[in-house]
Amino acid sequence: MQKEMVVASSLSVRFSEQNVLDDVNFKIGEGEVFALLGGNGAGKSTALKTFLGTIPPASGSAMVMGMSVEKDIDSIRSKVAYLPESVMLYGHLTGVENIKYFLSLADISRAESEIEQALTRVALQKNAWHRNMAHYSKGMRQKTAIALALLREAPVLFLDEPTSGLDPNAIDEFNQLIATLANEGSTVFMVTHDVYGACQIAHRIGLLDNGKIVGMFERGDNAHIDTEEVHSAFSARYRK
Ligand SMILES: Nc1ncnc2c1ncn2[C@@H]1O[C@H](COP(=O)(O)OP(=O)(O)O)[C@@H](O)[C@H]1O
Ligand SMILES: [Mg+2]
Repeated sequence: MQKEMVVASSLSVRFSEQNVLDDVNFKIGEGEVFALLGGNGAGKSTALKTFLGTIPPASGSAMVMGMSVEKDIDSIRSKVAYLPESVMLYGHLTGVENIKYFLSLADISRAESEIEQALTRVALQKNAWHRNMAHYSKGMRQKTAIALALLREAPVLFLDEPTSGLDPNAIDEFNQLIATLANEGSTVFMVTHDVYGACQIAHRIGLLDNGKIVGMFERGDNAHIDTEEVHSAFSARYRK
């Protein structure tokens, strides 16, 4: 059986009286790309943050690689690379310097040639490697963050709205990179409001509405998830 990498079991999260996640259940297998799709305020970012241990579950459990966020959060964080909605790297440092700095925080040392290999893999243009990141586009910042994840050898990627604010070419390039990493065994948990993007990239999509999973869509052997089908389920939920 496929290894279960990320598991939500009857997971609920509350802010004051509000159930922001309500009895959420899903399992993400190794090498799978799973997308939680939902509108603004559905609870998507909260779901990721719960798995990173920054928001505690009110009930149920959140597990990564068999470890629970309530008991083993440090080990979980060492296995997960998290790309928040805006990737936080230092503008006054170059891409290479940022990578070295964040690797050093994780007590990892990599040769310059390995860093260059990772930046080449994510297709960050060479003339940017030694430029301050203040001059990077969002796409370039994301590539740098993914290169860092590769160098950390993080088996699980958490992505929050990864393609919002990217131009269409950058989106295609990003989706291609994620697909390649998943083929090589990385597990991807992404959250997004982008129906089309989720259908392009995900093996499975959970539709999240008001903290509840209200639909699951699965990719066929050779075909992407049907955009029309997901779009109509999404708009039926979110039509005001
Ligand atoms: N730290 C917080 N304290 C109180 N309420 C919050 C907090 N973070 C998010 N919320 C509320 O939880 C709900 C879900 O937020 P969020 O997970 O950010 O949604 P999404 O990422 O799907 O847009 C929203 O109603 C939001 O206002
Ligand atoms: Mg969000």
